[in-house]
Amino acid sequence: MDIAVIGSNMVDLISYIHRMPAEGETVEAPDFAMGCGGKGANQAVAAARLGSSVRMVTRVGNDIFADNTIANFRRNGIDTTYVMPTEATSGVAPIFVDEESRNSIIIVKGANALLTPDDVRAAEEDIAACRLIVLQLEIPLETVYEAVALGKRHGIPVLLNPAPAQPDLVLGRVRDCEYIVPNETELSLLTGMPVETMDDVRNAASVLLDVGIPNVIVTLGERGALWLTAEGERVIDAVAVDAHDTTGAGDAFIGCFSHCLVADGDVLEALRRASHYAADSVTKPGTQSSYADAEQFARLCGAQ
Ligand code: RIB
Repeated sequence: MDIAVIGSNMVDLISYIHRMPAEGETVEAPDFAMGCGGKGANQAVAAARLGSSVRMVTRVGNDIFADNTIANFRRNGIDTTYVMPTEATSGVAPIFVDEESRNSIIIVKGANALLTPDDVRAAEEDIAACRLIVLQLEIPLETVYEAVALGKRHGIPVLLNPAPAQPDLVLGRVRDCEYIVPNETELSLLTGMPVETMDDVRNAASVLLDVGIPNVIVTLGERGALWLTAEGERVIDAVAVDAHDTTGAGDAFIGCFSHCLVADGDVLEALRRASHYAADSVTKPGTQSSYADAEQFARLCGAQ
Protein backbone atom coordinates (compact mmCIF):
# COMPACT_ATOMS: atom_id res chain seq x y z
CA MET A 1 0.00 0.00 0.00
CA ASP A 2 1.35 3.47 -0.87
CA ILE A 3 -0.36 5.91 1.45
CA ALA A 4 -2.23 5.76 4.79
CA VAL A 5 -4.47 8.75 5.38
CA ILE A 6 -5.45 8.97 9.05
CA GLY A 7 -8.06 11.69 9.20
CA SER A 8 -11.52 13.04 8.67
CA ASN A 9 -14.42 12.59 6.34
CA MET A 10 -17.34 15.03 6.09
CA VAL A 11 -20.45 15.53 4.04
CA ASP A 12 -20.05 18.87 2.30
CA LEU A 13 -23.26 20.93 2.08
CA ILE A 14 -22.28 23.69 -0.32
CA SER A 15 -24.42 26.79 -0.84
CA TYR A 16 -23.35 29.06 -3.69
CA ILE A 17 -24.27 32.61 -2.69
CA HIS A 18 -23.93 36.09 -4.18
CA ARG A 19 -22.36 37.44 -1.00
CA MET A 20 -21.88 36.41 2.64
CA PRO A 21 -24.87 37.33 4.85
CA ALA A 22 -24.41 40.07 7.44
CA GLU A 23 -25.20 39.23 11.07
CA GLY A 24 -28.94 38.59 11.45
CA GLU A 25 -29.51 38.67 7.68
CA THR A 26 -31.11 35.96 5.54
CA VAL A 27 -29.84 35.69 1.98
CA GLU A 28 -31.01 33.40 -0.79
CA ALA A 29 -28.52 30.99 -2.36
CA PRO A 30 -29.16 30.43 -6.05
CA ASP A 31 -27.46 27.03 -6.02
CA PHE A 32 -26.65 24.13 -3.69
CA ALA A 33 -24.59 20.94 -3.97
CA MET A 34 -23.94 18.07 -1.62
CA GLY A 35 -20.73 16.07 -1.92
CA CYS A 36 -18.18 13.96 -0.11
CA GLY A 37 -15.55 16.02 1.68
CA GLY A 38 -13.45 16.29 4.81
CA LYS A 39 -9.78 17.11 4.53
CA GLY A 40 -8.58 13.56 5.10
CA ALA A 41 -11.02 12.02 2.67
CA ASN A 42 -10.33 14.70 0.05
CA GLN A 43 -6.59 14.09 0.19
CA ALA A 44 -7.12 10.33 0.04
CA VAL A 45 -9.40 10.63 -2.98
CA ALA A 46 -7.04 12.94 -4.88
CA ALA A 47 -4.09 10.56 -4.34
CA ALA A 48 -6.18 7.50 -5.24
CA ARG A 49 -7.58 9.09 -8.43
CA LEU A 50 -4.02 9.75 -9.53
CA GLY A 51 -3.09 6.11 -9.05
CA SER A 52 -1.79 5.64 -5.51
CA SER A 53 -3.05 2.76 -3.43
CA VAL A 54 -4.58 4.41 -0.36
CA ARG A 55 -5.74 3.10 3.02
CA MET A 56 -8.13 5.37 4.95
CA VAL A 57 -8.31 5.30 8.75
CA THR A 58 -11.41 7.24 9.81
CA ARG A 59 -14.75 7.08 11.62
CA VAL A 60 -18.17 7.55 10.03
CA GLY A 61 -21.45 8.02 11.91
CA ASN A 62 -24.52 5.80 12.22
CA ASP A 63 -26.71 7.87 9.91
CA ILE A 64 -27.72 8.05 6.24
CA PHE A 65 -24.42 9.70 5.30
CA ALA A 66 -22.15 6.84 6.38
CA ASP A 67 -23.03 4.34 3.63
CA ASN A 68 -22.56 6.98 0.98
CA THR A 69 -19.16 7.95 2.37
CA ILE A 70 -17.99 4.33 2.44
CA ALA A 71 -19.34 3.72 -1.07
CA ASN A 72 -17.49 6.83 -2.25
CA PHE A 73 -14.20 5.56 -0.80
CA ARG A 74 -14.72 2.22 -2.55
CA ARG A 75 -15.64 3.86 -5.88
CA ASN A 76 -12.31 5.66 -5.69
CA GLY A 77 -10.46 2.42 -4.98
CA ILE A 78 -9.60 3.32 -1.37
CA ASP A 79 -9.12 0.55 1.19
CA THR A 80 -11.92 0.84 3.80
CA THR A 81 -10.79 -1.81 6.31
CA TYR A 82 -10.35 0.96 8.89
CA VAL A 83 -13.40 3.09 8.02
CA MET A 84 -15.27 2.48 11.26
CA PRO A 85 -19.00 3.03 11.87
CA THR A 86 -19.54 4.87 15.16
CA GLU A 87 -22.49 5.69 17.46
CA ALA A 88 -22.43 9.36 16.50
CA THR A 89 -23.46 11.65 13.66
CA SER A 90 -21.25 11.71 10.59
CA GLY A 91 -19.07 14.77 10.14
CA VAL A 92 -20.78 17.50 8.13
CA ALA A 93 -19.49 20.73 6.67
CA PRO A 94 -21.86 23.55 5.68
CA ILE A 95 -19.87 25.57 3.14
CA PHE A 96 -20.65 28.96 1.60
CA VAL A 97 -19.00 30.00 -1.67
CA ASP A 98 -19.54 33.56 -2.89
CA GLU A 99 -19.30 35.08 -6.36
CA GLU A 100 -15.65 35.97 -5.83
CA SER A 101 -15.02 32.24 -5.16
CA ARG A 102 -14.26 32.99 -1.49
CA ASN A 103 -15.47 30.33 0.91
CA SER A 104 -16.45 29.99 4.55
CA ILE A 105 -16.65 26.55 6.13
CA ILE A 106 -18.20 25.31 9.37
CA ILE A 107 -17.15 21.82 10.40
CA VAL A 108 -19.22 19.62 12.69
CA LYS A 109 -16.74 16.85 13.44
CA GLY A 110 -19.24 14.24 14.68
CA ALA A 111 -17.67 10.77 14.44
CA ASN A 112 -14.31 12.29 13.43
CA ALA A 113 -13.92 13.57 16.98
CA LEU A 114 -14.04 9.95 18.17
CA LEU A 115 -11.07 8.63 16.18
CA THR A 116 -8.73 7.66 19.01
CA PRO A 117 -5.05 6.80 19.49
CA ASP A 118 -6.29 3.24 20.17
CA ASP A 119 -7.79 3.18 16.65
CA VAL A 120 -4.37 4.04 15.25
CA ARG A 121 -2.66 1.38 17.36
CA ALA A 122 -5.26 -1.20 16.28
CA ALA A 123 -4.36 -0.51 12.63
CA GLU A 124 -0.61 -0.29 13.32
CA GLU A 125 0.49 -3.29 11.29
CA ASP A 126 -1.43 -2.20 8.19
CA ILE A 127 -0.42 1.45 8.52
CA ALA A 128 3.19 0.33 8.89
CA ALA A 129 2.90 -1.42 5.53
CA CYS A 130 2.37 1.97 3.81
CA ARG A 131 5.11 4.22 2.44
CA LEU A 132 3.71 7.56 3.59
CA ILE A 133 1.35 8.63 6.39
CA VAL A 134 -0.78 11.71 5.73
CA LEU A 135 -2.45 13.63 8.60
CA GLN A 136 -4.59 16.73 9.11
CA LEU A 137 -6.19 18.31 12.20
CA GLU A 138 -9.89 17.44 11.92
CA ILE A 139 -9.39 14.55 14.37
CA PRO A 140 -8.23 14.68 18.02
CA LEU A 141 -4.68 15.94 18.49
CA GLU A 142 -3.74 12.92 20.62
CA THR A 143 -4.62 10.72 17.63
CA VAL A 144 -2.39 12.84 15.41
CA TYR A 145 0.48 12.55 17.91
CA GLU A 146 0.02 8.77 18.05
CA ALA A 147 0.18 8.54 14.25
CA VAL A 148 3.37 10.62 14.19
CA ALA A 149 4.89 8.30 16.82
CA LEU A 150 3.83 5.26 14.79
CA GLY A 151 5.53 6.67 11.71
CA LYS A 152 8.71 7.22 13.72
CA ARG A 153 8.61 3.69 15.20
CA HIS A 154 8.40 2.17 11.74
CA GLY A 155 10.59 4.62 9.84
CA ILE A 156 7.68 5.79 7.64
CA PRO A 157 7.69 9.45 6.57
CA VAL A 158 4.77 11.46 7.92
CA LEU A 159 3.21 14.48 6.21
CA LEU A 160 1.18 16.78 8.46
CA ASN A 161 -1.24 19.29 6.99
CA PRO A 162 -2.01 21.40 10.09
CA ALA A 163 -5.50 22.30 8.89
CA PRO A 164 -7.71 23.66 10.19
CA ALA A 165 -5.19 25.53 12.33
CA GLN A 166 -5.31 24.51 15.99
CA PRO A 167 -3.60 26.81 18.45
CA ASP A 168 -3.35 23.83 20.86
CA LEU A 169 -1.10 21.84 18.52
CA VAL A 170 2.15 21.12 20.39
CA LEU A 171 4.86 21.50 17.77
CA GLY A 172 7.30 19.43 19.82
CA ARG A 173 4.96 16.45 19.47
CA VAL A 174 4.95 16.60 15.66
CA ARG A 175 8.66 17.28 15.25
CA ASP A 176 9.19 13.74 13.88
CA CYS A 177 7.15 14.55 10.76
CA GLU A 178 9.14 14.62 7.54
CA TYR A 179 6.87 17.24 5.94
CA ILE A 180 4.61 19.93 7.34
CA VAL A 181 2.35 21.70 4.83
CA PRO A 182 0.46 24.70 6.25
CA ASN A 183 -1.14 27.49 4.26
CA GLU A 184 -0.14 31.03 5.17
CA THR A 185 -2.99 31.52 7.67
CA GLU A 186 -2.19 28.26 9.42
CA LEU A 187 1.51 29.14 9.47
CA SER A 188 0.73 32.45 11.15
CA LEU A 189 -1.52 30.82 13.75
CA LEU A 190 1.02 28.06 14.47
CA THR A 191 3.92 30.45 14.97
CA GLY A 192 2.18 33.62 16.13
CA MET A 193 4.12 35.47 13.41
CA PRO A 194 2.98 37.69 10.52
CA VAL A 195 2.93 36.34 6.95
CA GLU A 196 2.31 39.51 4.94
CA THR A 197 5.53 39.50 2.91
CA MET A 198 7.59 36.61 1.55
CA ASP A 199 10.24 37.47 4.16
CA ASP A 200 7.60 37.16 6.88
CA VAL A 201 6.65 33.74 5.48
CA ARG A 202 10.31 32.64 5.43
CA ASN A 203 10.83 33.74 9.03
CA ALA A 204 7.70 31.97 10.24
CA ALA A 205 8.47 28.82 8.23
CA SER A 206 11.98 28.67 9.67
CA VAL A 207 10.43 28.38 13.16
CA LEU A 208 8.98 25.04 12.02
CA LEU A 209 12.39 24.01 10.65
CA ASP A 210 13.91 24.85 14.04
CA VAL A 211 11.39 22.56 15.72
CA GLY A 212 13.06 19.75 13.77
CA ILE A 213 10.74 19.17 10.79
CA PRO A 214 13.10 18.91 7.79
CA ASN A 215 10.67 19.98 5.03
CA VAL A 216 8.38 22.97 5.51
CA ILE A 217 6.08 23.63 2.56
CA VAL A 218 3.87 26.72 2.76
CA THR A 219 1.03 27.02 0.27
CA LEU A 220 0.45 30.68 -0.58
CA GLY A 221 -2.49 30.77 -3.00
CA GLU A 222 -1.76 33.25 -5.76
CA ARG A 223 1.84 33.63 -4.49
CA GLY A 224 2.54 29.93 -5.17
CA ALA A 225 4.31 27.80 -2.58
CA LEU A 226 7.55 27.96 -0.59
CA TRP A 227 9.61 24.85 0.21
CA LEU A 228 12.10 25.41 2.99
CA THR A 229 14.78 22.99 4.19
CA ALA A 230 18.02 23.43 6.13
CA GLU A 231 19.81 23.48 2.74
CA GLY A 232 17.82 26.37 1.27
CA GLU A 233 14.52 27.25 -0.30
CA ARG A 234 12.56 26.93 -3.54
CA VAL A 235 9.60 29.01 -4.60
CA ILE A 236 7.05 27.21 -6.75
CA ASP A 237 5.09 29.63 -8.94
CA ALA A 238 1.32 29.61 -8.81
CA VAL A 239 -0.51 28.43 -11.93
CA ALA A 240 -2.85 31.20 -13.10
CA VAL A 241 -6.43 30.06 -13.71
CA ASP A 242 -9.93 31.49 -13.63
CA ALA A 243 -11.04 30.45 -10.11
CA HIS A 244 -14.62 29.29 -9.70
CA ASP A 245 -14.57 27.47 -6.34
CA THR A 246 -11.41 27.19 -4.24
CA THR A 247 -12.92 24.81 -1.67
CA GLY A 248 -10.68 21.78 -1.21
CA ALA A 249 -7.82 23.17 -3.32
CA GLY A 250 -5.38 22.71 -0.44
CA ASP A 251 -6.44 19.08 -0.16
CA ALA A 252 -6.00 18.61 -3.91
CA PHE A 253 -2.47 19.97 -3.55
CA ILE A 254 -1.61 17.60 -0.71
CA GLY A 255 -3.23 14.55 -2.31
CA CYS A 256 -1.34 15.12 -5.55
CA PHE A 257 1.93 15.96 -3.78
CA SER A 258 1.66 12.76 -1.71
CA HIS A 259 0.95 10.68 -4.80
CA CYS A 260 3.87 12.12 -6.77
CA LEU A 261 6.24 11.88 -3.82
CA VAL A 262 5.51 8.21 -3.31
CA ALA A 263 5.63 7.57 -7.06
CA ASP A 264 9.13 8.98 -7.67
CA GLY A 265 10.48 10.79 -4.60
CA ASP A 266 11.27 14.05 -6.42
CA VAL A 267 9.96 16.72 -4.01
CA LEU A 268 10.34 19.71 -6.33
CA GLU A 269 8.62 17.99 -9.23
CA ALA A 270 5.88 16.76 -6.88
CA LEU A 271 5.32 20.36 -5.76
CA ARG A 272 5.11 21.62 -9.33
CA ARG A 273 2.59 18.96 -10.24
CA ALA A 274 0.59 19.56 -7.07
CA SER A 275 0.33 23.27 -7.98
CA HIS A 276 -1.09 22.34 -11.39
CA TYR A 277 -3.48 19.84 -9.90
CA ALA A 278 -4.78 22.26 -7.25
CA ALA A 279 -5.11 25.05 -9.83
CA ASP A 280 -7.20 22.80 -12.07
CA SER A 281 -9.45 21.93 -9.13
CA VAL A 282 -10.45 25.56 -8.51
CA THR A 283 -11.82 25.89 -12.04
CA LYS A 284 -14.59 23.41 -11.15
CA PRO A 285 -17.26 23.44 -8.43
CA GLY A 286 -17.15 21.35 -5.25
CA THR A 287 -14.34 19.57 -3.45
CA GLN A 288 -13.76 15.96 -4.55
CA SER A 289 -15.98 16.61 -7.57
CA SER A 290 -13.29 18.98 -8.86
CA TYR A 291 -10.37 16.51 -8.66
CA ALA A 292 -8.99 15.15 -11.92
CA ASP A 293 -8.13 11.49 -12.36
CA ALA A 294 -4.77 10.32 -13.71
CA GLU A 295 -5.86 10.44 -17.35
CA GLN A 296 -7.42 13.90 -17.08
CA PHE A 297 -4.36 15.18 -15.23
CA ALA A 298 -1.95 13.73 -17.78
CA ARG A 299 -3.92 15.49 -20.55
CA LEU A 300 -3.82 18.73 -18.56
CA CYS A 301 -0.05 18.49 -18.02
CA GLY A 302 0.46 17.65 -21.68
CA ALA A 303 -1.46 20.76 -22.65
CA GLN A 304 0.79 23.11 -20.59
O1 RIB B 1 -10.57 21.53 2.85
C1 RIB B 1 -11.89 21.49 2.43
C2 RIB B 1 -12.68 20.62 3.35
O2 RIB B 1 -12.72 21.22 4.62
C3 RIB B 1 -14.13 20.43 2.96
O3 RIB B 1 -14.32 19.30 2.15
C4 RIB B 1 -14.84 20.34 4.29
O4 RIB B 1 -15.43 19.11 4.51
C5 RIB B 1 -13.80 20.68 5.34
O5 RIB B 1 -13.32 19.56 5.97
